[in-house]
Amino acid sequence: MADHSLKGALGLTGPEACLAYYRDWAANYDSGFAEGMEYLLPAHVAAAFLGSGGAGPVLDVGAGTGLLAERLRGMGFHAPIDGVDFSPEMLARAAEKHVYRALVQADITRPLALPRQYRGIVSSGTFTAGHVGPEALPNLLDVAMPSAQVALSINRRVWTKAGFDRALDGLSQAGRIADLHLIEVEVYGAAAAAVDADHAADRALIALFRVT
Ligand SMILES: C[S@@+](CC[C@H](N)C(=O)[O-])C[C@H]1O[C@@H](n2cnc3c(N)ncnc32)[C@H](O)[C@@H]1O
Repeated sequence: MADHSLKGALGLTGPEACLAYYRDWAANYDSGFAEGMEYLLPAHVAAAFLGSGGAGPVLDVGAGTGLLAERLRGMGFHAPIDGVDFSPEMLARAAEKHVYRALVQADITRPLALPRQYRGIVSSGTFTAGHVGPEALPNLLDVAMPSAQVALSINRRVWTKAGFDRALDGLSQAGRIADLHLIEVEVYGAAAAAVDADHAADRALIALFRVT
């Protein structure tokens, strides 16, 4: 039986493997992984988005079980939040929380069949090893309204390796995004050291920018 833990998730090698992994991980993602590792990243992204004046409607990218939308609601954010994820099992967990207006099953590495309607785009934990690379960024910009505020976490381990630095510079130089700045945060809390010493100290960059 597969070990459904962070270690396995970060070693995934393609979309089919990723989908299969989350099919089985969805049931204990919150109670096992997020609680066990004291997963702080959704709260950091929510705070960064709201701190930069983020407004709705919002699209939560790689919404998973809905932890980021829950944090936004917990911080008093009342505007509509839609979620997109390609795992139906993760989306089923998110739906149980009643924090989303709509949940859409789609692969974010392909153009999204959504109208250009979002004033905010957020994401936690989706741009990381074994998951999604910078090729998805233009698909997100295509559903954002002009001046939309974006807050995306990108794991430090893949920031340069997967080319997020170059992709965001390129989008800035092409005039597609503006006001790019980065906040570095811890992904997990102190409890993680006892669960997964290899990843307990992981850090992420939250890329904050506006769509032009
Ligand atoms: C580590 S989880 C993060 C979930 C949630 N945002 C959180 O912080 O708990 C990564 C999510 O990205 C989704 N995902 C991975 N690749 C994707 C893709 N190409 N398109 C859409 N969703 C994807 C997975 O199904 C999973 O729910």
